[in-house]
Amino acid sequence: MSIKTLSIYTFRNLGEVHLSLSPFFNLIVGENGAGKSSILEAVYFLSHGRSFRGNILDPLIQFQQEKMVLQALIDIEKENEVSIGVLKSLSEEGQIKIGGNSCRSAAELAALLPVQLLNADSFDLLNGGPSFRRQWMDWGLFHVEQSYGELWRQYHRILKQRNAALKKQDDASVHCWDEALAQMGEQMASRRVDYIDAIMPLCNTLFSRFCDFSFYFQYDRGWGAGLSLMEALKSNFNRDRYLGYTSLGPHRADLCLSIENKAVQAILSRGQQKWLIYSLKLAQGLWLQAQTGKNSVYLLDDVPAEWDEQRQEVLISILRGMEAQVLITGIDLSYLLELIIDLPVKMFHVERGVVKEQTLENQLSLIGHSGG
Ligand SMILES: Nc1ncnc2c1ncn2[C@@H]1O[C@H](COP(=O)(O)OP(=O)(O)OP(=O)(O)O)[C@@H](O)[C@H]1O
Ligand SMILES: [Mg+2]
Repeated sequence: MSIKTLSIYTFRNLGEVHLSLSPFFNLIVGENGAGKSSILEAVYFLSHGRSFRGNILDPLIQFQQEKMVLQALIDIEKENEVSIGVLKSLSEEGQIKIGGNSCRSAAELAALLPVQLLNADSFDLLNGGPSFRRQWMDWGLFHVEQSYGELWRQYHRILKQRNAALKKQDDASVHCWDEALAQMGEQMASRRVDYIDAIMPLCNTLFSRFCDFSFYFQYDRGWGAGLSLMEALKSNFNRDRYLGYTSLGPHRADLCLSIENKAVQAILSRGQQKWLIYSLKLAQGLWLQAQTGKNSVYLLDDVPAEWDEQRQEVLISILRGMEAQVLITGIDLSYLLELIIDLPVKMFHVERGVVKEQTLENQLSLIGHSGG
């Protein structure tokens, strides 16, 4: 699974960009503000139907323009390609197309194009609220288990109805939703537990390439131990009624990561914490590959500057082993280029929103090799 071509129109400072990407490594270089992250943002948007830099459409569309268009040709398997496209406009309804046909939900795009983003905000996975860790678990389950996405949607639909009934203090309606909510909530929780159990050894194997300790996951399923979700909903009813929302369930779940019974944030250095986050996300790609044969596309927006050469080499060797498509941005990536020059690497130079592919000669001269 990889993106063969990517076209971007009037998105951020990118006026019109057409890229033919390598199925392996793509290095995107340029000065600050050139438009490197915006290229990754365009890929992320094609996969998620939204940006990773906020939910408002207006800032994404180029100044003085009315709409933006993103298109890609996805190589799903050998000789099986599909085109996807997203159009967003300030005045009209947006459009999502897969294989030329309109589709209504961005979830269809997500299923087609699993994308993992690693950037400065990925720190939220450790230091942000529980929703970031729930998203991490749900990403893995959504892409590996076909039915999980539907279960998640149904659970949240019922949760919305129950919350609306709680707000209206319509007790009879609240109780009507309890059983379905409890049944789906239990299923979600048990799938998450299975996923954590399966992926934890893989996360630790990757983590150990950088650090000498093992870390542990503790899953807080979102309601009290020893109770079924139905029992918890019933015993918590008065509180929920007072709050006006459902305060227990898998939508309140969290993951606690610890080393020697202490929170990882209290133990690990900044560079080590970043590696832990990389381990969690790389493990998901490996697990996805092992379970489904599908690869995730990795978007690495500025590989952490605090990593020494040895860490960079470890990262590259893991990505090489996965044979995943990778898009990496940076101001100067010649040190990475040196590690992958034997692969069909593509390198793009971005300047004020204009992207130019670098020839092999350019690439070689960057790392001090002569072209001949
Ligand atoms: N709606 C918009 N229309 C036009 N230009 C925009 C819009 N939104 C952002 N920009 C500009 O587009 C560029 C986007 O930069 P981007 O974040 O992609 O840069 P970058 O190359 O990743 O830089 P850095 O190295 O600093 O991370 C910036 O110069 C920004 O000011
Ligand atoms: Mg950037």
